[in-house]
Amino acid sequence: MSYRALFPIFEQPNMHYLDTGATSQKPQSVIQAIQDYYQNQNGNPGRGSHRLSVTTSALVEEVRSKAKKFINASEDKEILFTKNTTESINLVAYSYGLNFLKQGDEILLAVSNHHANIVPWQMVSEKTGAVLKYVYLDPSGQLDLDDYYSKLNKNTKLVALSAVVNATGVIQPYRQIISAAKRNGSITLLDAAQSIAHIPHDATALDVDFLAFSGHKMFASMGVGILYGKKELLQSMPPFLLGGDMIEFVEEQSVSFTEIPHRFEAGTKDVGSIVSLGSALDFIQDIGYENITAHEKDLLSYATQRLSSMGGIELYHNEHVDKVGVLAFNVHGIHSHDTAYILDSYGVMVRSGHHCAQPLMKHLGIPSCCRASFSLYNDHTDVDALADALKKVKEVFLK
Ligand code: ALA
Repeated sequence: MSYRALFPIFEQPNMHYLDTGATSQKPQSVIQAIQDYYQNQNGNPGRGSHRLSVTTSALVEEVRSKAKKFINASEDKEILFTKNTTESINLVAYSYGLNFLKQGDEILLAVSNHHANIVPWQMVSEKTGAVLKYVYLDPSGQLDLDDYYSKLNKNTKLVALSAVVNATGVIQPYRQIISAAKRNGSITLLDAAQSIAHIPHDATALDVDFLAFSGHKMFASMGVGILYGKKELLQSMPPFLLGGDMIEFVEEQSVSFTEIPHRFEAGTKDVGSIVSLGSALDFIQDIGYENITAHEKDLLSYATQRLSSMGGIELYHNEHVDKVGVLAFNVHGIHSHDTAYILDSYGVMVRSGHHCAQPLMKHLGIPSCCRASFSLYNDHTDVDALADALKKVKEVFLK
C-alpha cells in the first residue's frame, strides 16, 4: 500500500514535497475530522450549557485524554493545549522561568536548539540574572556529553534541548541528558517538535518535567500545540495568559484562578485544530512508529547515496549518527535560497536559509543550508527528482 495515496494533496501533479520539517501534509482522515467537526459540532467549549458547547467541551477533553495516553503522562491535567511548540516553551519561560529562576542560577541549552528554545531563555536571563550556558556538538552533530557533564553543576536549574535538531535531523542523546539533569536536581524541558512524528516519547519513563510539541508537524492542522508538565510543577506555576475560562471568581479588584489544566488555557481554543490532533494521533498509531521509522530510514539512506555520489554537494551531520529522515546540504558555491528556488521550478520543495537555528549555522561555519525532510508520503521518486533537479542547479549556476 502506498502511504502517499492517503494524502489528497498529492493528487496534484509534480509535487515532490520535502519540507515536512516545516509542516506535514494532512491525511484524508484528518481533513475529514475537521470537516465533520465544523459541519456538525462547532460550539465554544466551557462557555455554555447548550448541546454544542457541551459536546465540544467533551471533544476537547477526549483529545486531551488521547494525548495523555499517546505520551504516557500520568493524568489528563498534565496536558495543556497551546498554539504550538513556541507558545508551549514561552509558557514555561514566562511562568516557570521568570518566577522560579534567580541571579546565580544557570540555564543549560543545546547550541543546536531552534530559536524558540533559545530566545525565551535569553529573556529570562535578562530579567532574572540567571546565566545562559551552551552545550556544543561533537563532529557527528550530537551533543558532546563530556561537555554537558562538565557544565552541569549545582547552579544548573534548567536544561532545555530538542530531541531532534530541526536543521539536520540528528537525534540527540536526550535520555542520558535528562536523566543526568534529574540526578542533578535540574528541571528539564524537551522540545519534541521535530521528533514526535518520528519517535515515540514516554513522558513518564523519560521523567522529563516539560515536553512540548506542535500538531501541524505530526499530520494535524496548524493552531494546536501541547505542553506536557508534571502535575506538581504546573500546580506551583502562575498562569501565563489571563482571561476567560481560566478563573474561579473575578471581583472588580481581584481574581482567583481555576485548577490546571484550564488555568493555563485562557481564551477560546482552536477546537477544529484540537480535533484534527486527535485524528492525527489515531493516524500515527494506526500506521505504527516502527513502520514510519523503517520508511524514513530507507529514504534517508537512498537520498544519502544519491546525493553523496553526485559530487559538489556538501552534506551536514549525516554520517555516524542516528537521524530521522532529514538531509541538510549545500551545493558548493551556491546560496541555499538560489538552490531551493531552482529546485522548486522542478517541483521539488525544500526549506532553505538558517532554519531558525543561527547558533547552529555559526557552529557549522555556514550562513545557511537546504533541508530536505521526508515523511510517509515520500518515496524514491521524490529523491530521484531532488537529485535530478540538483544537477540542473549545478548546470545553471556553475556553467
Ligand atoms: N520549525 C520549523 C522548521 O524547522 C518551521 O522548519
